[in-house]
Amino acid sequence: MSPPTLLSGFRPTGRLHLGHLHGTLKNWVKLQADYRSFFFVADWHALTTAFEQTEGIARSTREMVADWLAVGLDPERSVIFRQSSILEHAELFLIFAMITPTPWLLRNPTVKEQARELGLIASDDDAELAKINFGHLGYPVLQAADILVYKADKVPVGADQVPHVEVTREIARRFNHLYRPVFPEPDALLSEVPKIAGLDGRKMSKSYNNAVFLSEPPADVEAKLSRMMTDPRRKRRTDPGDPADCPAYQSFHKIYCTTDELAEVDRGCKSASIGCLDCKRIMIRHVLADLEPIRERRREIDARPALVDAVLDDGNRRARAVASATMGEVRAAVGLD
Ligand code: TRP
Ligand code: SF4
Repeated sequence: MSPPTLLSGFRPTGRLHLGHLHGTLKNWVKLQADYRSFFFVADWHALTTAFEQTEGIARSTREMVADWLAVGLDPERSVIFRQSSILEHAELFLIFAMITPTPWLLRNPTVKEQARELGLIASDDDAELAKINFGHLGYPVLQAADILVYKADKVPVGADQVPHVEVTREIARRFNHLYRPVFPEPDALLSEVPKIAGLDGRKMSKSYNNAVFLSEPPADVEAKLSRMMTDPRRKRRTDPGDPADCPAYQSFHKIYCTTDELAEVDRGCKSASIGCLDCKRIMIRHVLADLEPIRERRREIDARPALVDAVLDDGNRRARAVASATMGEVRAAVGLD
């Protein structure tokens, strides 16, 4: 029996950080052992919000794929490719767009939240929703095409992406019912991933300027984490604190430290017998050790400038073969072959 198919994608965000490492990448590296896996750069999806600043997309794509390889995505085992190289995604998107009722899109909470955050809409009123560009409103349909053109069974994503996988299932069901059964109904694969705070205690994000990047020199990683926010009650060295209210502890000690170290930190924090800097040094050692092999592989990758393009060329070729076979079935089912 062949293993189930797994697919996930990421917008080209450039250099990846510790939030990506623990939220997504370690999970992907683990999953690729058990599934027939596809991982792709969603560069068309980047246009849904960044259509006015497209200069960085190509560079960000290379940078991100280099980081994927550095953390251990294996291009022999997994198909690593770029969305815009596989035109079949666009063709399937078009056909799916024809059978997708607009209300399925208008009720998508993730699209609306994103549009609100970007200041594109002020509320969920109909008049406001009409201000969202057609492609932005429809991006879950493109996502459905990304997933179904490979007949993926499992889609590892964060909770915010679950509505899109739900739309994908609904579109697959509708297509299979209208024409003939071609598609599986994929499941989101939610894993409990730790929430990683950035240096200021908010969610780690490049745009908040609070991130620690995977490819940063160790001295910079150390300097950044040394000034990461801790329990605000510990204004002075003698003020006791609580690890439960410490972003550094909640994001990093918890993931990286041994049980003994955690007990020591807990005691030291609550009794003010340890200072925050010394306390953070305990976890910083582990973070640096975790990042060392990643940085080493990244150095090797950067020393071979043609490597990322070669990986993408090979992945694109393998992805295209699968996508094109599916589109043969789709055209036949719809009656357009
Ligand atoms: N929408 C996802 C994001 O913004 C990226 C994405 C596009 C994706 N197509 C996908 C994820 C297909 C999983 C499967 O992060
Ligand atoms: Fe956080 Fe450690 Fe400082 Fe406590 S002592 S607030 S756990 S860094």
